Amino acid sequence: MLSYQHQYHAGNLADVHKHALLATMLDRLAQKDKPLTYMETHAGRGLYDLGSAEAQKTGEAGAGIARIERLGWFAGDHPYARALAAVRARHGADAYPGSPLIASELLRPDDRVLLAELHPQEQAALAEALLPYAAHSRKVDGLAMAIAQTPPEPRRGLMLIDPSYEVKADYEALPALIGQVHRKWNVGIIALWYPILADGRHRQMLEELRALKAPKAMVHEVRFPPARAGHGMVGSGLYVLNTPYGTEDEARRLSALYARL
Ligand SMILES: C[S@@+](CC[C@H](N)C(=O)[O-])C[C@H]1O[C@@H](n2cnc3c(N)ncnc32)[C@H](O)[C@@H]1O
Repeated sequence: MLSYQHQYHAGNLADVHKHALLATMLDRLAQKDKPLTYMETHAGRGLYDLGSAEAQKTGEAGAGIARIERLGWFAGDHPYARALAAVRARHGADAYPGSPLIASELLRPDDRVLLAELHPQEQAALAEALLPYAAHSRKVDGLAMAIAQTPPEPRRGLMLIDPSYEVKADYEALPALIGQVHRKWNVGIIALWYPILADGRHRQMLEELRALKAPKAMVHEVRFPPARAGHGMVGSGLYVLNTPYGTEDEARRLSALYARL
């Protein structure tokens, strides 16, 4: 039973972290004149309305992307800012792109985009959000898709794994799955987002990821004030293997910015 809905959280400080680094990596990959595959195991609905009752209820986007834009963290030519501007131009000032739309805006017509979203309503919304693009989504289990579709064609590419961590088993299954996908697709970039919760629940998973000793692995974490009193999430983490050149510079820049919040 899936109950998580990203529309309550879209554009929060964790999304800013994850989406800024994702956009940086995709932009870097798209500079090379060779097609690539972008895969996402937990795609969400792709397009969010920050004026919706859900977004207003939590206020997370207000304390997230709205505040960050007032602080001017991203110049107009930053790939995250470019994706935001393109989606707002299509859908209005309150629109916020999820990762599938960030990728769709930054990638080229010859690139292949494979998206899994298991929740029927979220998947239907995603299919509609993707209509202007060449990307397609499937109502399948993203972790099964990760195994079934690797190595993909084109072989160059990136897989984002962004679970909702509704069950403890999510943490336990991921290191082995990432190891398996990496063995099948040794050139693929794999990025895993995880929440940093006050109880440190992610630490065991991170130890197991480090034990994979994958090439060019990066762990980047930022901390921020909880969205509201008692909220468990106090930071955002991204584990990446085969990290594209230049990503660590952007990660360092973000570390300095988050430290000032
Ligand atoms: C954190 S949200 C994704 C947000 C999105 N990646 C973004 O950054 O815009 C996680 C999504 O995964 C979906 N989900 C949960 N388990 C799944 C599974 N096994 N396979 C595919 N999707 C799943 C949920 O319905 C939810 O929409």
